[in-house]
Amino acid sequence: MNQDADAQLKTFPHRHFLSCDGLTAPEINFLLDLADEAADRNRTVDKKRDVLDGKTVINLFFEASTRTQASFDLAGKRLGADVMNMLVASSSVQKGETLIDTAVTLNAMRPDIIVVRHHSAGAVELLSQKVVDCAVVNAGDGAHQHPTQALLDALTIRRAKGRIDGLTVAICGDILHSRVARSNINLLNAMSARVRIIAPSTLLPSNSDRLGAEVYTDMWKGLEDVDVVMMLRLQHERMDGAYVPSSREFFHFFGLDHEKLARAKPDALIMHPGPMNRGVEIASTVADHSRSVVREQVEMGVAVRMAVLEALSANLPQT
Ligand code: CP
Repeated sequence: MNQDADAQLKTFPHRHFLSCDGLTAPEINFLLDLADEAADRNRTVDKKRDVLDGKTVINLFFEASTRTQASFDLAGKRLGADVMNMLVASSSVQKGETLIDTAVTLNAMRPDIIVVRHHSAGAVELLSQKVVDCAVVNAGDGAHQHPTQALLDALTIRRAKGRIDGLTVAICGDILHSRVARSNINLLNAMSARVRIIAPSTLLPSNSDRLGAEVYTDMWKGLEDVDVVMMLRLQHERMDGAYVPSSREFFHFFGLDHEKLARAKPDALIMHPGPMNRGVEIASTVADHSRSVVREQVEMGVAVRMAVLEALSANLPQT
């Protein structure tokens, strides 16, 4: 890690927050430091600040979400913004309006930040090119990127382990359909962690050897001596056929149970971005293990989204 570069970075040098690909360690540390402060403040009675006073944030979610949408909503409100949650199910999208027309319509209402989740990879970046004055945050686009998830995972790891560099992190399960895996691989590599991906060959992308991770198809081997185990659910909504023989067989070979967990370091963290499918990718007792930090991940989600909104607000046009 370049500590001089960390110290020199006073503001986040991006107008939008779309991907972890290309983020530098100083930029990531800048956001994690902001989020760390927010996480501590969120544990006090004095949670609110006014850094987004007078600003408008629109949450535009074309896909289901519990954690991401709720935490962007809370994050905006804790920073003093006016937050509007667009209900796509009852919007004109249902009448055939295109993503771009929806974006241009919302842009005409002069929001400062639009947070977007969409089922198509690349849709959020496309939208960012069509809006004029506001910042766009990617809250998950297809199997492409989910950058604030990777940031909250990094903050959870850093707070639990005191560092990220030099740790070995195993990301396990449905890598093929996972935007969480792609964002985490980018971010963890930028932070000098060692990344492993573990999955059956049917759930690995064809370019898995070029993702920046060691590839394993045997979970017992892949978990050997890792510091962090990150589990992923089977993302059926992005599947167009059968990728595993059955949930039961998937759990036997790739579900995190106590026996497989014993291969990892004795103090290994257990993580899951949620929503969890207990008994499919993770045993219920492992999900509730004393080393599981799933609830901390949710807590850090609010802090990280506060950091991203605050960082982007510094680059908003002043008019
Ligand atoms: N981890 C995550 O993105 O969860 P949601 O789908 O509930 O937002």
